[in-house]
Amino acid sequence: MRALVTGCAGFIGSNLTDRLLAEGHEVIGMERFSNYYSRELKERNIASARQSPSFTLVEADIAEMEEFPDVDVVFHLSAQAGVRASWGKSFDVYTRDNIQATQRLLEFYKDRKLKKFVYSSTSSVYGDSELPFREDRMLRPISPYGVSKLAAENLCYLYWKNYGLPTVALRYFTVYGPRQRPDMGINRFANAILKGDPITIYGDGEQTRDFTYVDDVVRANILAAQSGVSGEAFNIAGGKRISVNDLIALIAEKAGRPAEVEHVGKEKGDAAHTLADASKAERMLGWTAAVGIEEGVERSVEWFKQLL
Ligand SMILES: NC(=O)c1ccc[n+]([C@@H]2O[C@H](COP(=O)([O-])OP(=O)(O)OC[C@H]3O[C@@H](n4cnc5c(N)ncnc54)[C@H](O)[C@@H]3O)[C@@H](O)[C@H]2O)c1
Repeated sequence: MRALVTGCAGFIGSNLTDRLLAEGHEVIGMERFSNYYSRELKERNIASARQSPSFTLVEADIAEMEEFPDVDVVFHLSAQAGVRASWGKSFDVYTRDNIQATQRLLEFYKDRKLKKFVYSSTSSVYGDSELPFREDRMLRPISPYGVSKLAAENLCYLYWKNYGLPTVALRYFTVYGPRQRPDMGINRFANAILKGDPITIYGDGEQTRDFTYVDDVVRANILAAQSGVSGEAFNIAGGKRISVNDLIALIAEKAGRPAEVEHVGKEKGDAAHTLADASKAERMLGWTAAVGIEEGVERSVEWFKQLL
């Protein structure tokens, strides 16, 4: 297949790009190297892809574009991520990179013969919903980030409903693994433990998260692209939850070093708990998580060690 991967130099986008290239597909990567974290890290993420003759990098800002490449499948991962930074004036970036950019892509591809448009959504669309989160639950995000991602998910749905554009939304639950963004928990915790620095936790650490290993997310994207399903949203999640305190203990065990923890106040917009019912993805896409938290944390710690 010839695929467009938006946000190809980001954490999940670069992992997906490498997988698609390894499977013999052609990838056009679109990326604006936003300053949320360093360009140096993103360049490292796509260093191997750049060696491939099947990869083309287009440095561009999707929110400002009206023409896009002719492809079979769009994997739309570009976004302004992060719950905590989405308050106040910086919400402008979220509306632009998450909502406007998605609308630009959908508007262009609505009359083209796309096989699939796979949108990267998030568990943040559920807010503090009853556990486990199921796709048919009322969606009430509790962060501006969640609102922007849900708005874009709704846009994907309505372009399917009105124009028959074959969109699918994948709601990821806290993704981790090699190249994880520097603002995310496991990256921050593993780095601090490996360097002997203190870890700052928001709240008492008893909040729980359903974690998903990045290779599983990549596989979900490829299965969604190949499936005959459109107009649907799917939870993509490990399917088990672990508290932040237990997660830190697990990272410390795998790193073979103690963790020094400092607690600060709870952050607005953070869900208290997340846990997915991922049976719809199993039923309709044939997807289940393959990597459990023990194995995933071990692989992640090994990767973070190499970067020290
Ligand atoms: N990481 C997670 O745990 C998680 C969980 C749920 C959903 N998601 C979603 O998955 C996707 C990827 O997340 P990630 O963690 O890899 O984030 P990331 O920040 O590492 O990658 C996103 C990339 O998109 C690029 N980008 C942003 N705006 C752009 C624009 N207007 N034009 C071109 N490029 C642009 C950024 O420069 C960045 O490299 C996002 O849509 C995010 O909302 C991530």
